[in-house]
Amino acid sequence: MSTLESILKETRSFSPSDDFRQKAIVSGMESYNTLCEQANQDYEAFWANLARELITWHKPFSRVLDDSAAPFFKWFDDGELNVSYNCLDRHLAQHGHSTAIIFEADDGKVSHVSYSELHRRVCLFANGLKSLNIGKGDRVIIYMPMGVEAVVAMQACARIGAIHSVVFGGFSAGAVRDRIADTAARLVITANEGLRGGKSVPLKATVDEALTLEGCDTVEHVVVYQRTNGGAHWQEGRDIWWHKLIEGQSEQCEPEWMNAEDPLFILYTSGSTGKPKGIQHSCGGYLLGATNSFRWVFDYKPGDVYWCTADVGWITGHSYICYGPLANAATQVIFEGIPTYPDAARFWRMIEQHKVSIFYTAPTAIRSLIKLGADLPKEYDLSSLRLLGTVGEPINPEAWMWYYETVGGSRCPIVDTWWQTETGSIQIAPLPGAVATKPGSCTLPLPGVIADIVDESGAPVEPGSGGFLVIKKPFPSLVRTIWNDPERFKKTYFPEEFNGQYYLAGDSAHRDENGYVWIMGRVDDVLNVSGHRLGTMEIESALVANPLVAEAAVVGKPHDVKGEAVVAFVVLKGARPTGEAAKKMAAELKNWVAHEIGKIAQPDDIRFGENLPKTRSGKIMRRLLRSIAKGEAITQDTSTLENPQILDQLAEPL
Ligand code: WT7
Repeated sequence: MSTLESILKETRSFSPSDDFRQKAIVSGMESYNTLCEQANQDYEAFWANLARELITWHKPFSRVLDDSAAPFFKWFDDGELNVSYNCLDRHLAQHGHSTAIIFEADDGKVSHVSYSELHRRVCLFANGLKSLNIGKGDRVIIYMPMGVEAVVAMQACARIGAIHSVVFGGFSAGAVRDRIADTAARLVITANEGLRGGKSVPLKATVDEALTLEGCDTVEHVVVYQRTNGGAHWQEGRDIWWHKLIEGQSEQCEPEWMNAEDPLFILYTSGSTGKPKGIQHSCGGYLLGATNSFRWVFDYKPGDVYWCTADVGWITGHSYICYGPLANAATQVIFEGIPTYPDAARFWRMIEQHKVSIFYTAPTAIRSLIKLGADLPKEYDLSSLRLLGTVGEPINPEAWMWYYETVGGSRCPIVDTWWQTETGSIQIAPLPGAVATKPGSCTLPLPGVIADIVDESGAPVEPGSGGFLVIKKPFPSLVRTIWNDPERFKKTYFPEEFNGQYYLAGDSAHRDENGYVWIMGRVDDVLNVSGHRLGTMEIESALVANPLVAEAAVVGKPHDVKGEAVVAFVVLKGARPTGEAAKKMAAELKNWVAHEIGKIAQPDDIRFGENLPKTRSGKIMRRLLRSIAKGEAITQDTSTLENPQILDQLAEPL
């Protein structure tokens, strides 16, 4: 990659109020700079101090970073701890009666779970798992609906040293099978059915189907939580009800003391090519990353009510539902349902009802809620909010401004948090009481994160030009390896092009004159139009800035003269146009883009759909769009697609 041109110009900037800054955990730029300076001066001491301050060790560590087998780094590797102990037991004396979880079910029913109650349920279930002879190092697949039990299952595994691998409840039997086979799991934990948006999700039936497929014969038992009255096919001897398993178990369960480098979990993430990668995280370093970043970035303090809308099937649900908040003794909302059921005001009603003060969601959710009711938040009392967050993809400045003004009442800082399944915890984001925000930028690295943007020789690029986002020093919560595939780990994340020294995130980014990071998209999404390298996200942002556009995805298609031409897939806020109306609208949008960012980025081709093809985590499946753009038949796997019928609409020429 030579230079990558940045075409997005955003000059608005928002500083935290004096009040917010004064009360913040990291208060003011001076404090931020001091922390960065400390990390600079003695990197290992910086992390060791945090590890001693934030984690309760069963046996203290004497070594900090061991890089002798780089890039297989080890942290705190002679220390011993238990993650579940750190999330539960150590809070009991002071916070036993505090609410850990406010659970709101799909149908609106609310229940509160205190720290001591959560501890009791985790111990019961952990003892149940032990009675099935599950213990340290065993792999356990968790395929559960969102809810308290999903967290209990994960925490119980952590407590006994079993390695969990959570599979998102929207995935198919094939995905469950792949993960069972790759981990050689002995146990699956599921529910008879899930409930989302008033509909039941046949989780147990999907597990049953997976277990008929090849590669699943390691599974000895399936534990089934009864979420609904719906039945379940039953295989005697193999299947066990959750409530039967915990019957008569002790409410005490001594934690298994783990080495800091023992695996805590494996979470699969799909790359743009190849089979999903089993991202393996450690007990010690991961817990430190999740715990510390939760405190710094969300500025959590007693009295706050925090709500992250992610599913536990994604890394966000691991780090910022199951582990980070609990390790900080936080009170959090966990929501079973979807943002649009029973109507598009669900989130706003819940924020009002539970007096949520910190709200963390994804740009895709924000855009869809703008589309379904941009004025709806005004009908609710959202004055409890003091901080907003986003994660998962770049947020286009227009959506950012709406979030800031309409949801946050122009009062709440927005933390745009850049990180990945592989990094385990947030790496680049504004510390909200210190760093001023700019719409569309994830701003500055957290103290201790040595991020840079480099060209293909590894040399830093000039401000304003784009390059590869890298992290130049290993950090505690970084992925340890790809399960079963250390070679792929090395090649993917520490490639020889950079002498195996830098962690390569796979994103392109640029920095502005203030050092702020602007993510431009995945490296493989980059277009080359007439020798100009353009990040697709910037063109998408321009399109979405048009008042008629709700959502847009841009890909390249081969072009005789230009190398690549821009093809845009657009969802309007109103109905999907067809015929003459579509042609007219397309012409208008082409002019719009030319006007917003210049003719170079103008789409050659625009297609309209009622939606975009997305994975169930909301990521746009660009490889499908690339095929459509080229006019090819779709041969790729579409099984993880939320809405397969959308492909035909988008393939329809104007
Ligand atoms: C990729 C990681 C991190 C949890 C959810 C996704 C993109 C993530 C941002 C952000 C711009 C972002 C990147 C990254 N991404 N956060 N704030 N701004 N892009 O986890 O599935 O591992 O995906 O999501 O491209 O590499 P993931």
